[in-house]
Amino acid sequence: MNVFVTGGTGYIGSHTCVELLEAGHSVVVADNLVNSSAESLRRVERITGRAVEFIECDLRESAAVDAVFASHRFDCVLHFAGLKAVGESVAKPLLYFENNLNSTINLCRAMAEHGVKKIIFSSSATVYSPDNVMPVNEESRTGGCTNPYGWTKFMCEQILRAEAEARGDWSVILLRYFNPVGAHPSGLIGEDPRGIPNNLMPFISQTAAGRRDHLNIFGNDYDTPDGTGIRDYIHVVDLARGHVAAMNYMEKVTGTEVFNLGTGAPCSVLEMVRAFEKATGVKIPFRIAPRRPGDVARVYADPSKSLRLLGWKSELSLEDMCRDTWNWQSKNPDGYGGDL
Ligand code: NAD
Ligand code: WQD
Repeated sequence: MNVFVTGGTGYIGSHTCVELLEAGHSVVVADNLVNSSAESLRRVERITGRAVEFIECDLRESAAVDAVFASHRFDCVLHFAGLKAVGESVAKPLLYFENNLNSTINLCRAMAEHGVKKIIFSSSATVYSPDNVMPVNEESRTGGCTNPYGWTKFMCEQILRAEAEARGDWSVILLRYFNPVGAHPSGLIGEDPRGIPNNLMPFISQTAAGRRDHLNIFGNDYDTPDGTGIRDYIHVVDLARGHVAAMNYMEKVTGTEVFNLGTGAPCSVLEMVRAFEKATGVKIPFRIAPRRPGDVARVYADPSKSLRLLGWKSELSLEDMCRDTWNWQSKNPDGYGGDL
């Protein structure tokens, strides 16, 4: 298939490009590079030996989006583009609503105009209400989001559902990611956060590299076995493969379908620190800090629907996640800013 990948220079998008190319698909990427570097695609080409067309484009500009569709023939869209920093979304809510919603609306409009009927959207476990009993499945309650970023994901899901309902012949897949971590085993592509990382795994790996003095563990008084927060970390290569499985499934169906992409295996912050130390042999100095506002004790997936309908399940272990993160971090201490 000829696949249009928005946000394809970013962390998850670039890993998905690799899996798409290796599965024999062709890829055209659009990104405005607000949180990424086009160097990632040169690395994708190096890994796969295949060319990727890159278009620098801001999806908020509807004429620019239309022009991309007018000059290509796409079978399917994978929509990764969006802003994703929870704290920034609290400080700048309009930026988040404007960016994430308008991008999705412009994309839908161009799809309709040019007869493209299949889209896979990067949603998030953050759309589930915090008061659900774990693990969450696709029928669990959504809404009650604790920040504007989460609401943009919730609202984009509604926009896409409504559009699929109205058109009748569209196929929309909403993939709810849990906590993506890790990197391609080549060490050529990985997560390259700007500034101080918000998320656990990049903070651990930058601490291991000596770029951070120590890790702050946000709370050890949760109602969990070791008192630290529990999440469902999933290797980004497994996640990327989930998109290829979803594309295959989409061939057969119309309407909207939702899937969790997680491992279903709960892991605490302390367990992750220990796993990283074991996989890499590098000690992670840490301190216990106050709870982070908005955090909950535990979030993890029931991924059984993805296995049942997509034939997909995560294959890679916590050890793989830690080893591959460290391989990427140690080969690229400055992310894509440094040469490999
Ligand atoms: P990322 O920031 O690495 O990638 C997102 C890409 O979108 C970036 O390359 C950015 O430059 C681009 N972008 C943003 N706004 C754009 C616009 N207006 N026009 C064109 N390009 C634009 O993030 P990621 O971790 O790869 O996440 C990909 C998607 O998955 C996002 O939609 C994110 O919300 C979602 N998601 C991520 C996580 C996670 O923990 N990483 C979890 C759940 C869902
Ligand atoms: C994981 C655990 C922290 C950093 C976020 C978004 C969510 C989704 C994925 C996009 C928690 C603890 C963290 C640190 C720590 N993104 N932690 N010290 O909060 O589960 O999810 O990313 O959709 O929307 O909210 O991930 O990696 O930030 O935190 O102790 O320096 O690690 O308290 O228990 P989270 P995270």
